[in-house]
Amino acid sequence: MFNLSAIRSEFPALAREHAGRPLVFFDAPGGTQVTRRCLDYMVEYLTRHNANTHGAFITAQESDALIEAAHEAAADLLNAERKEEIVFGQNMTSLTFALSRSIGRTLRDGDEIILTRLDHDANFSPWQLMAEERGVCVRVVDIRPEDCTLVIEDFARYLNARTRLVAVGYVSNAVGTINPIRQIANMAHDVGALVFVDAVAAAPHLPIDVRDLGADFLACSTYKFWGPHQGILYGRYELLDRLPAYKVRPADNRPPRKFETGTQSHENQAGLLGVIEYLEWLATQADIAPESNANLRSPRAAALHRAMRAIQTYETELIGYLIERVTTIPGVRFFGIRERARMTERVPTVAIRYKDEHPRATAERLAQHGICVWDGNYYAINLTERLGVEASGGMVRIGLTHYNTREEIDRLLDVLEA
Ligand SMILES: Cc1ncc(COP(=O)(O)O)c(C=O)c1O
Repeated sequence: MFNLSAIRSEFPALAREHAGRPLVFFDAPGGTQVTRRCLDYMVEYLTRHNANTHGAFITAQESDALIEAAHEAAADLLNAERKEEIVFGQNMTSLTFALSRSIGRTLRDGDEIILTRLDHDANFSPWQLMAEERGVCVRVVDIRPEDCTLVIEDFARYLNARTRLVAVGYVSNAVGTINPIRQIANMAHDVGALVFVDAVAAAPHLPIDVRDLGADFLACSTYKFWGPHQGILYGRYELLDRLPAYKVRPADNRPPRKFETGTQSHENQAGLLGVIEYLEWLATQADIAPESNANLRSPRAAALHRAMRAIQTYETELIGYLIERVTTIPGVRFFGIRERARMTERVPTVAIRYKDEHPRATAERLAQHGICVWDGNYYAINLTERLGVEASGGMVRIGLTHYNTREEIDRLLDVLEA
């Protein structure tokens, strides 16, 4: 049902060997490998069409067209209402810092915002620094340490008529929890607060529909889903239109350009088109029911959702296998949702510690066998502190994506157990 060998052959990096065996890339939440189509699009752009924008000549006009096409493609991926709701930028962190400053200009002393302890620091510090500057009160939603889920009741406790913004991650980059964004957005909207969703760790694993989620803003990064290093920010058009932007005077004053500072990475936008083409191809390979979400903006949006549902189905199997096996290894401490019946509440990003081994030592042991995993806090520092593991090296993160296999999991388990 999921043609893994065809899928793997789409990723040239998977041919890389180390000590005579293929490298096992379990570092996906830090950045995935890149599709061949992405590379092709980037090379094609830089060899044939490379230019700045709005010129009278052919390559400048081709660059303009590419930029429009990339915005349209990202709008399909996220099911935005229109392509002008898509802002490209250096990465999620930079886009969030910029947006937080713009939103901050509209806030006053006594206003409140809500953040969470589960989030990557890129969805924490930009808001907290803005709040300090603007005299805004920050409330922080806690987690349940036993399964690393958000304490949803905290949102109800903290939301009130002064709440202006809720910034929450869709998926934890450290422990893989999927948060109930629709529910949180409904609660926030009931008091008139805006909702910013960090979807960086969600985009590689789930279909995303900003309208269905109720996101006013949503950010992701293409290097986490098989593309180049680039951030994408979605914002509802009327909000982007209304918000002040930090921009130079000659730059266009309308969304999205007013937020796209300087010259963008056109080659990365080209790379995104390659990723989109890859997902469209994947949708044709997958044995999965046609898309039932009638609100998707285009046939391509429907194909992308279908591809992501196929990925999600495959990954749910894979994660069940990994968790079942890894939790039976004596001495493994597991963080996050582990019950077989709850695999749809998480993505295949697994955090563990092994006996009293320092997480870096475990990662080094795996690295010697050609298995790439991360250790530390991966910037989810509020979480590692809350779990009491920050001072002792954080956790080992085994992060899978849909090109990973059961055989690779077996290789990891063999080394862990040895
Ligand atoms: C959940 C999450 N949010 C934000 C970021 C930051 O993304 P970027 O590197 O695009 O700034 C990351 C990166 O690891 C992440 O995993």
